[in-house]
Amino acid sequence: MSASNPTPNALPIDIVIMAAGKGTRMKSRVPKVLQKLAGRPLLGHVLATAQALHARRVVAVTGHGAPEVEAYGAVVARAGGQFDLKFARQEPQLGTGHAVQQALPLLADDGLVVVLSGDVPLTEAATLQALVQAAQGERLALLTVRLPDPTGYGRIVRAADGGVQRIVEQKDASADERAIDEIYSGIMAVPARHLRRWLARLTNDNAQGEYYLTDVVAMAVHDGVPVAAHRIDDALQVAGVNSPLQLAELERAHQRRQAEALMAQGVRLADPARLDVRDDARRGVPAELTCGPDVEIDVGCIFTGRVALGEGAQIGAYCCIANAVIAAGAVIHPFTHIDGEEAGVGVGQGARVGPFARLRPGAELGPDVHIGNFVEVKNSTLAAGAKANHLAYLGDATVGERVNYGAGSITANYDGANKHRTVIEADVHVGSNCVLVAPVTIGAGGTVGGGSTITKSTPAGALSVARGKQVSIAGWQRPAKKARGA
Ligand code: UD1
Ligand code: CA
Repeated sequence: MSASNPTPNALPIDIVIMAAGKGTRMKSRVPKVLQKLAGRPLLGHVLATAQALHARRVVAVTGHGAPEVEAYGAVVARAGGQFDLKFARQEPQLGTGHAVQQALPLLADDGLVVVLSGDVPLTEAATLQALVQAAQGERLALLTVRLPDPTGYGRIVRAADGGVQRIVEQKDASADERAIDEIYSGIMAVPARHLRRWLARLTNDNAQGEYYLTDVVAMAVHDGVPVAAHRIDDALQVAGVNSPLQLAELERAHQRRQAEALMAQGVRLADPARLDVRDDARRGVPAELTCGPDVEIDVGCIFTGRVALGEGAQIGAYCCIANAVIAAGAVIHPFTHIDGEEAGVGVGQGARVGPFARLRPGAELGPDVHIGNFVEVKNSTLAAGAKANHLAYLGDATVGERVNYGAGSITANYDGANKHRTVIEADVHVGSNCVLVAPVTIGAGGTVGGGSTITKSTPAGALSVARGKQVSIAGWQRPAKKARGA
């Protein structure tokens, strides 16, 4: 970002995001930091937090899957406007200290460096602000948390007076040290001028043969630079993703918080454990579910991208709704699939949709429209009170008020090369199993007889029938099977 936000002691903030690791335990071809939580790559969550800190510069250290990771980061940076994101390649990956070393050439000496991990997605900006405050422009500040089971983490070793002495990694820790339950989150804030000096002194003389960033703590103590531990209670904010199980657990915890926030606004969720609100990753649209008063959402619904639910809207069980505006009093019955993609979908006031309906981009339903089971609507407007209740397709159609569109009817909107519009004027009744071959207009108040294939526009008020005439042959003898052995 161009306008940097100085720390209390006037140090500009620069952020390093370590994102070079392989994530072996994910057992995936996708780099770990591109695995998705709530529809957004893990790195995207970290970048959003970084952006909220108004950092002067963000440096992402990449290695495994670097081209993909950098391509994604560049897309986020572009979408974020004035976001100064740089990449530093780390090859091979020799540890977290080595990772930050790769970023150093891109960091100015006058800044406060905040080190984040690309696989820790749920840290809140306010927490990092507090960590920055704790550094006071001159200290090394560590974000820590106490865990009932600290296994695997670096432990915060304190002196008798409580001062932080060093961090010891799990694999290097003595039995006594392993009993310490305060762990290092992997997140620190440190003045760049100190960091540069300490990183130059790192060695890999430890159980894993890696250059540990955490060794800078003992160096700070040695150099007389104060070390502050900023301890938080919320372990979720520092939880990392190393395995599919951890990813799923973090997803549930994150969704639970979103559910609680919605309920705090008055939204009635049948079960806060069975709601998902996600980014539309394909279009880079952040999750944004806005609800009016008295919205009710049944179990198992997934909301993706930008969705607005008006006052009193009811969403039945197991609906998937993306990029749509549902007006007040509308009822979406169970198992309905709505995806507005770029064009959006609108459901009018008091409309009823589903069960088992599908609304695609450009479906615009007016007030009190009814769309029933196995009806697909795409790029079509339906005026107030229009109904398509069973097994039908409306594509590229303009449907007037109070039209009744029969079961099994379709608009043949595609001639194999081009799409054409079908216009069905107000008060038309289309019988069952009709094919309306576009471009075609059904005049107002007209009736189309069931089973008709309509290829020419019809006059207002007329009955139009276009199908083979019925014939009945009297006394018809069906063929009989020959007798066996005959
Ligand atoms: C690290 C900390 C540990 C802390 C834990 C919190 C060190 C030495 N240890 O351990 O104290 O409790 O995080 O989760 O820092 N990475 C690189 N390049 C590398 C190695 C790692 O970019 O060469 C990245 C990884 O992709 C990951 C992050 O750094 O995003 C942390 O690496 P990881 O190997 O998970 O560190 P831990 O062993 O968990
Ligand atoms: Ca880790």
